[in-house]
Amino acid sequence: STPAGPRHFLDIRDLTPTELRRILDIGKQVKALQQGRRFPLHPDRPLAGRTLGLMLACPSTRTRVSFEVGMEQLGGAVSVLSTADMQLGRGESIADTARVLSRFLDVIVLRARKDSDLRELARWSSVPVINGLTPVSHPIQILADVMTFEEHRGPIAGRTLAWIGDGNNVATSLIEASALLGFRLRLATPEGFAPSEAALSWARAQGADIVTTRSPAEAVQGADCVITDTWVSMGDEDAQTRHQLFRPYQVNAELMAQAAPDALFMHCLPAHLGEEVTQEVFESPASVVFDEAENRLHSQKGLLLWCLGHDAGA
Ligand code: CP
Ligand code: NVA
Repeated sequence: STPAGPRHFLDIRDLTPTELRRILDIGKQVKALQQGRRFPLHPDRPLAGRTLGLMLACPSTRTRVSFEVGMEQLGGAVSVLSTADMQLGRGESIADTARVLSRFLDVIVLRARKDSDLRELARWSSVPVINGLTPVSHPIQILADVMTFEEHRGPIAGRTLAWIGDGNNVATSLIEASALLGFRLRLATPEGFAPSEAALSWARAQGADIVTTRSPAEAVQGADCVITDTWVSMGDEDAQTRHQLFRPYQVNAELMAQAAPDALFMHCLPAHLGEEVTQEVFESPASVVFDEAENRLHSQKGLLLWCLGHDAGA
C-alpha cells in the first residue's frame, strides 16, 4: 500500500463514495451545531492554530468569503493570496511556492487559470490542496449542490438532475458526482460545448446513468432539479459568438414546466439574468440558489475538517 499523503481534494473522482459521504456528513453536523448561532459555532474550535492559504488567480466572491468565514468559525486563520501579487507573478515556480507554503500553512485552496497549475501545486505540496476551481473542474461547488438538493428533497441517489448549457468545469464535477452518488444526469449542451469526454467515459465506466443531448426539453423531462451556469466562464474568450448559440439553452418558465412538477432550480452563481436563466425562474419558489450559496460555507467546513483529519468525531 502507498504511504498516506496529504488529503488533497482535487476532483470528486479521487474520492470513494464513503469519503464523499463523510465530507457531506461532517458539513451537515457542523451546520446543525451552528443552528442560528453565527459564532462561535464549535465549543472547542477544532482548527485553532491552523492556517488556510487561499490562492486566487481569478476573481471570487463565494469561494473566498465562504472559506474565510468557515475557517474562522472553525477557529483557524486564513491568508488570502492573490497570485498576481506573489512571486509566482514574477516567475517563481509552483514547485518552490508549494514547498515554501507547505512550511507555513496547513491547507491550501487554489483557484487557478490552468488546471495543470493545480496538479503541480498538489504534486509539490506536503499539506492538503483543495481545488478552488480550474477551467476543468469545480468540485467544491458540487459538495454544496448535493447538500442543497438533499436538504430539500432527501437522498439524491436515484433522482434525476438536468444540466442545461455549457459543458463546463461545474458540469464535469457534477458528472463525477453522479457516478459516486448514484443520481441520474441528463446534460443538454450546444454543439461545440459538450461535456468532457474524459469525465463522461470515466463516470460511465463506474456505472453512472448519464444521457447527453442537444435538446434542453429532452434533458429536463421528469428532472427533479434543473441546473445551469453562465454561458461564459472565466477565461473564455469567444463570448460574443456564444450568445446566439446558447439562446435556446436558457432556463425559462417554459423549460421548467417540462421538468418534474416540484423540480428545483440551482445555479452556482454568479448569474446573468436574461441569459442562462430568466429572472422569473431565478426568483421563483423552485429556485434554491441562495441556500446553495450558503451551503458552500457548511460543506466546505466539512471538507476542511476532513482534509485536516478531524473526521473521527465531528
Ligand atoms: N460559485 C462560485 O464558485 O462563486 P465565486 O466565483 O464567487 O467563488
Ligand atoms: N463556470 C464558471 C463558474 C464560476 C463560479 C466559471 O468557471 O467561470
